[in-house]
Amino acid sequence: MEQNTINLMKVAAGKAAVDAMVKSGMKLGLGTGSTAVHAVRRVGELLAQGVLRDICAFATSFQTEIECEKLNIPFFTLNSRQLSEGLDLTIDGADEVDPQNYLIKGGGGAHLIEKIAAYASKEFAVIIDESKVTESLGYGFPVPVEVVPEARVQAAKALDKLGADVTLREALRKAGPVVTERGNLILDIRFRPAGSQYKPIDPSLMETELNKIPGVVENGFFTRMPPVVFIARSDGTVETRGRK
Ligand code: A5P
Repeated sequence: MEQNTINLMKVAAGKAAVDAMVKSGMKLGLGTGSTAVHAVRRVGELLAQGVLRDICAFATSFQTEIECEKLNIPFFTLNSRQLSEGLDLTIDGADEVDPQNYLIKGGGGAHLIEKIAAYASKEFAVIIDESKVTESLGYGFPVPVEVVPEARVQAAKALDKLGADVTLREALRKAGPVVTERGNLILDIRFRPAGSQYKPIDPSLMETELNKIPGVVENGFFTRMPPVVFIARSDGTVETRGRK
């Protein structure tokens, strides 16, 4: 698919989620990535027009903080008095979404803080283009596992024992590995099909299992917070899944 079509889908998904779910006075988690940025821009636009008022945002990465600064969206730390009760809604992108609306996130390395925001929210909106919809997780797009630097080798061995191929994420335009915004490393894992047998993994169980490995800080499976998923299609429509 052409880059321009993909970009238009990302814009459409971001706009649809903000227009449907963001209300004045909300405490709002803002996700990270090339899709989430369009939701951030739509919030900025509606604030500038006076359609939205009194938004207290939480930015899940430096990228999102910088976007909020540009757009005059007031943002606070999650530990601040403004946000200590938690968030009303978090809007974020995803790398893959399965039929149960379980997600893989962290293609941009921000899943640790994104998960803290999503799980501290009353509602969670996920915005994707149709290419991110998949039948099963864990075999296609790699699942990022954030580890403290000291755990790199031992955690990789434990992940291999769980049946995954492990790759240390390399940085672009910096020599060596990606160092996350919290000073950790990322091991990207892909599960190996058992022999010729293709046995889907259970993302919900795996989300818990991966975090039991010493030195693992967080992984990119998101299964505990049922999202409303906005899926933008190349024909210009946006499908909504999971809305009560
Ligand atoms: C950031 O670490 C991620 O969780 C992103 O939300 C996810 O990778 C989707 O990013 P894009 O919208 O850029 O594909």
